[in-house]
Amino acid sequence: MDNAIIQLNGLTKRFPVGSGYFTALSDIDLSFSKGEFAGLVGPSGSGKTTLLNIIGSLDVPSVGEATVLNHSIAGLNQKQAANLRNHHIGFIFQTYNLLPVYTVYENVEFALLLQKMSATERRKAVMQALEWVGLTDKEKSRPSMLSGGECQRVAIARSMVKKPEIVLADEPTANLDSKNSHHILQTMQKLNDELGVTFIFSTHDEKVMQYLKRKISLADGRVVADELAILSQ
Ligand SMILES: Nc1ncnc2c1ncn2[C@@H]1O[C@H](COP(=O)(O)OP(=O)(O)O)[C@@H](O)[C@H]1O
Ligand SMILES: [Mg+2]
Repeated sequence: MDNAIIQLNGLTKRFPVGSGYFTALSDIDLSFSKGEFAGLVGPSGSGKTTLLNIIGSLDVPSVGEATVLNHSIAGLNQKQAANLRNHHIGFIFQTYNLLPVYTVYENVEFALLLQKMSATERRKAVMQALEWVGLTDKEKSRPSMLSGGECQRVAIARSMVKKPEIVLADEPTANLDSKNSHHILQTMQKLNDELGVTFIFSTHDEKVMQYLKRKISLADGRVVADELAILSQ
């Protein structure tokens, strides 16, 4: 695909298990362009997290090629991989992964501490990110004072504060009720529309499906369908 920001060719991932190995991903060919809002859909164990980890340079392919923002993932050393993540890729996890002793503000600011930025610039970026997710009034709260939906919105703000090109979200609504799931999806949809950030999620949550612009179905580590969604609204 032209102007692909993520290109996966013949991607296979094997994990050593006992004296052999387990194949978690088999021969995946996929590409993503800027601005996609795509879901990796499949049952538990189908390879969704493994695929997101490779796209996010947290892991490397066993066979084949993963190219992300013109970097070959397998060719990056640890420092280069960290650099790609710190500047260009945001992560959202099922369990939010917020630091409990930090305030909402500090949790979001944390993502910027590795970047060269003045305190004033940092404050501006953090407040902007909290505004995107509708949480400016909670900047001094700690995660324990927030609902699950609010915690996930803090995690979205943290993933967005460095203005990454790509946000990877691993089952972002798995721990949320229906109302909060819709709110989280609408927040991400808005950021995708307004800022053109590319979102790739994993999910097996039916509530998420209606928001996807592209649905990639995985089964046993293989892509079994890749469909553009017909959006209802
Ligand atoms: N580090 C690992 N070592 C061995 N097997 C693994 C490892 N990580 C994942 N797997 C296996 O790979 C398969 C896919 O896992 P995963 O990508 O986590 O699936 P999903 O996110 O779709 O539930 C599973 O069978 C899992 O047990
Ligand atoms: Mg998973």
